[in-house]
Amino acid sequence: GYRTFLLPNIYIFMPHLRKHRDSLVPNVVLGQGRRGVSIVLGIPTVKREKQSYLVNTLSSLLFSLTSSQCQDLVIIVFVAELTLYSFPKEVQSGLLEVISPSQYYYPDFTTLKETFGDSKERVKWRTKQNLDFSFLMLYAQDKGIFYVQLEDDVVAKSSYYDDMKAYATKEDSKPWLYLEFSQLGFIGKMFRTRDLPMIAEFFLMFHRDKPIDWLLDHILWVKACNPERDGKHCEQQKATLKQRYKPSLFQHVGLHSSLPGKLQHLKDKDFGKQTLHKAHNNPTAEVRSSLKHYQEHSLERAYKGQDFFWAITPVEGDYILFNFFQPIHTSGYLFRSGNIETSGDKLFNTTVEVLPSNVSNLDEPIGPRYRKSENGFIIVGEFENGVAEGEIDAALQPVSALRLVIHSDSDVWALLSEV
Ligand SMILES: *[C@@H]1O[C@H](CO)[C@@H](O)[C@H](O)[C@H]1NC(C)=O
Repeated sequence: GYRTFLLPNIYIFMPHLRKHRDSLVPNVVLGQGRRGVSIVLGIPTVKREKQSYLVNTLSSLLFSLTSSQCQDLVIIVFVAELTLYSFPKEVQSGLLEVISPSQYYYPDFTTLKETFGDSKERVKWRTKQNLDFSFLMLYAQDKGIFYVQLEDDVVAKSSYYDDMKAYATKEDSKPWLYLEFSQLGFIGKMFRTRDLPMIAEFFLMFHRDKPIDWLLDHILWVKACNPERDGKHCEQQKATLKQRYKPSLFQHVGLHSSLPGKLQHLKDKDFGKQTLHKAHNNPTAEVRSSLKHYQEHSLERAYKGQDFFWAITPVEGDYILFNFFQPIHTSGYLFRSGNIETSGDKLFNTTVEVLPSNVSNLDEPIGPRYRKSENGFIIVGEFENGVAEGEIDAALQPVSALRLVIHSDSDVWALLSEV
């Protein structure tokens, strides 16, 4: 979808593109070319040397969506140098797209001028950010009504989709250029997609000169301020072009900035506390664990959906056991571990195992899908990136117990947010 992608003036701002006229055609790595949605989310991501938060950011955005919300949204990840293999379902449905720029899109970064006291490295970083954000905006312009700029290290409030859509729709008759759903940098800034060509053109025109948040502020200045009036008048006029939504819907979680060596501790104070657990109606069971829980965050309360389970550092051989009062037929299981605010405290190298109540099942070959564990348990799955989800085969039903077994010592605590 690059019919509307070209900006007539782009070769003036980026003369190096003349030689490679197709370098504005994005390489769509994954996706179905979905269009016509209400909200488009754009997430530029770059490889970080220390820690990647992208998968957690996407999990947080996808976590609470209903199926109708899933059909009215596109999430575009802009990747310069990374492969993304999670979320095959979301890619298949068209909800998630991954694009990357042509290698010829970027100019020669070695000729940039160091300005505003920024080092060479930082000037290159901020210039590339201008180019990346503009590319993503140009790609997104014909896909929906509203476009929201995010970063790859955020967590979202579970109601973010409905809250944004309702607010944007309610305020749509007003003359705003953007709505702010977070107060930090460029996170959670919503634009009308029809304004994106103008905004991207402005960024590209001055991409060598200033960081992107300054450029955005300059757009407001150009549009609203009267140079014959004073600064206070200018601020008042600019305020008519932006509106802030409270409480914030996105929180920044990254500690390592995408600029190597820079630590970023920015936190949005208006985000508030997120509930760290999700309740489910589980069958009655005796629950037991070798893990020691912290304060009131017990396994019983987590199983009943009243709290999350938070346990002190697991070691090899630790277990969490659910012993059903009556053998049950259960189609599947879902365990989500980790703190969604910090993305820490996940379970890893941990298997999910069931105990079939019909012992005679155990004597039969259980097929290549399953491995036997100890004490009659059968391994049916394991945690991947903090989550274990799967079906339980009819041949194993009914089951009288289910357990999680931890096979490696951990450096961190363990948090189960969903059982
Ligand atoms: C999981 O634990 C087993 C047993 O301690 C160990 O042999 C294996 O290397 C671990 N796997 C990973 C991925 O850490």
